Amino acid sequence: MEVVLLPTPADCGQVVADAVQAALTGAAGPPAPAVIGLATGSSPLLAYRELVRRHREEGLSFAAVEAFLLDEYVGLPAGHPESYREVIRRELTDAVGIDPARVHGPDGSAPDPLAAATAYEERLRAAGPVAVQLLGIGANGHIGFNEPGSSLGSRTRVKTLTEQTRADNARFFGGDVDAVPRHVLTQGLGTILRAEHLVLVATGAAKAAPVAAAVEGPLTASVPASVLQLHPHVTVVVDEAAGSRLERAGHYRYVLEHKLADQGW
Ligand code: GLP
Repeated sequence: MEVVLLPTPADCGQVVADAVQAALTGAAGPPAPAVIGLATGSSPLLAYRELVRRHREEGLSFAAVEAFLLDEYVGLPAGHPESYREVIRRELTDAVGIDPARVHGPDGSAPDPLAAATAYEERLRAAGPVAVQLLGIGANGHIGFNEPGSSLGSRTRVKTLTEQTRADNARFFGGDVDAVPRHVLTQGLGTILRAEHLVLVATGAAKAAPVAAAVEGPLTASVPASVLQLHPHVTVVVDEAAGSRLERAGHYRYVLEHKLADQGW
């Protein structure tokens, strides 16, 4: 796993945008529509802003992109402003011109959420491997909505949120914890591991402990993000604050400084 420690959140946004751009414009150009995996939450927002800028000012094209979301709340009606489908439309996909028909997410408004989970897993499989999957990390070490205790081999399924996660996300619901749904649909940890390149971004001191546990702690379902240690191509992009509890910080900086010219992300 490559840990990229950078001075500011804006620097993190640049590197994450570079990783997405690499998936869209790989050396020989992508042969088929590029499949990218998008995350919601505040962590990837600066990267999204940078991708929008590159689209507008540098002509970065998303025309052949299929986008898949990590997770979704259960029970919010379609079109609810805090449903992740709406959030991603607002924050990225409309602005870079991805046709809404090519933006996929688990259907949290389906009458049968269990069936919706299975259907989404199948849809992801049929679309082929996700070239690059963006991830944030929760204060308790979750990725997607895989809360502590999630099976390391899990597939897309219904999960029940911890009270901590509901409290953390209440800020998106006007501070009203009761308005945050209890249940969610999320890609499983095993589902996430099928993507070709995983890019986790975290900024701010509140993420320092979960980042350290995920990167340098033991592989354990108690810290779902530690499952990234099993994947062959992971980039963890953190600012100084989020990386402040990493014991090997000096080594990560040294590696970055001595990166070979064509090593890429
Ligand atoms: C949310 C999302 C995750 C996100 C994480 C961190 O609940 N389901 O996909 O990565 O928690 O959120 P934030 O980036 O806002 O800190």
